[in-house]
Amino acid sequence: MEIKVVENAASVEADILVVNQFEGEKTTNDLANKYAIEEDNFKGKFGETYLLPTYGNAPYRKVLVLGLGKKEEFCSNKLREAVAKAIKKAMQMEAKKVAFSFEGINFDYSEQFTMGAFIADYKFDKYKSEKKNNHVEEVYVQANPDLVKKAEKIAAAMTFARNLANEPAQFATPTELANIAQDFAGLETKIYDKEECEKMGMGAFLAVGQGSEQEPKFIHMKYTCDNPKKRIAIIGKGICFDSGGLDIKPASSMLTMKDDMSGAACVLGVMSIIREFNPQVEVHGIIAACENMPSGKSYKPGDILTAKNGKTIEVDNTDAEGRLTLADALCYACELGVDEVIDLATLTGACMVALGSHAAGIMGNDETLVHNLIDTAKRSGEKFWELPLWEEYFDSLKSEVADMKNSGARWGGASAAGVFLQKFVKDVKWAHIDIAGTAFLDKAQKELIAGATGAGVRTLLNYILEQ
Ligand code: BES
Ligand code: MN
Ligand code: ZN
Repeated sequence: MEIKVVENAASVEADILVVNQFEGEKTTNDLANKYAIEEDNFKGKFGETYLLPTYGNAPYRKVLVLGLGKKEEFCSNKLREAVAKAIKKAMQMEAKKVAFSFEGINFDYSEQFTMGAFIADYKFDKYKSEKKNNHVEEVYVQANPDLVKKAEKIAAAMTFARNLANEPAQFATPTELANIAQDFAGLETKIYDKEECEKMGMGAFLAVGQGSEQEPKFIHMKYTCDNPKKRIAIIGKGICFDSGGLDIKPASSMLTMKDDMSGAACVLGVMSIIREFNPQVEVHGIIAACENMPSGKSYKPGDILTAKNGKTIEVDNTDAEGRLTLADALCYACELGVDEVIDLATLTGACMVALGSHAAGIMGNDETLVHNLIDTAKRSGEKFWELPLWEEYFDSLKSEVADMKNSGARWGGASAAGVFLQKFVKDVKWAHIDIAGTAFLDKAQKELIAGATGAGVRTLLNYILEQ
């Protein structure tokens, strides 16, 4: 799909002209006003559409009236959702050229328009032997070309992340993630194999991966520029498959666990495009990639692991593996001397229970960082919701035989995981984003289809660009 910025979309030869209608108002299109609104009483409620043919009397073959709802309730998030709706409709109709003539929107819609169009155009059909080619090829709109370009790149990073997280675990292995990272141009990338991780003392990360036939890989990508204003490390949970390990998951819970590397997919998505933005910040992308599998070599409940910072962890449950891999990744990141560390992880079912698939949970040791991320998320079309990080949640992680256990009480599980991670954070501003609920949808939600969502990509990129 290509977005073409034009002066007057209504004069473009197209399969469909999309015009907007606020509830109770007219559109800029006479045909729509006469037939949809006056004759058929189309109201323009949010998300509703009305299609009418033009019978050769206009450069476009059809007009799609797009309801935007009440004008006073309209916002850029609704715009993105509505644009996605129109694009999906166009795809159903196998339209190739779609023009959008928007009027009366009192904010710059260029970015969210572009995001909506590209997010809607996404599908994961690489393994279908018969592919439907119903992609919209050209979109015409009057918009700010620079903002369209910016959003195109962010959307491409999102698509990259969605493809990776949708990829079956048989292909998206730790080695594959490492190869992808290594191939990014313009970044300094170092891949540590198992022996090198052993030398660094990453006993928690390596324990999780030891039951698998797949080799673990610790990935460190670095983007630099002259005189960076800030140094940020982003860490993504990279469990390429989470069977639960010896504390094996029931079949229904295991079904979607190829998505347990969605944090890593987000980090790779961000790093895939960062050179093209050339931001004035140094960004480190870090992934401790492995599989959590049961075997004769697996780590076991009761094992005591030593993380990179020397702290010892009693394994209470092998299915609480993400925090073990993140523990060593956090230690590594803190040693880089960065200003901020942000981790993203499909970490707890508890976060999903609390917030569902609409919002990610966020916790951190620095109020400003957490609030800035929440705010950036809001403007980027994502929802982050703060969960507490009180020390009380550590009570159930106390161990008789080690410095801590990797799991404890069931209640408050998202915060307990956060407090666990905090034990591996030293002298740095840190935020933890639990994307267990938002990374992978079992059914379509707003502009997103079922499957991987690219959670975190939009927010992280905007956060980096706004420094
Ligand atoms: N990857 C899961 C969390 C998850 C659950 C992500 C559902 C996406 C959807 C994580 O490794 C896990 O298994 N967490 C356990 C922790 C428990 C054993 C303390 C959980 O949430 O049940
Ligand atoms: Mn698990
Ligand atoms: Zn997991």
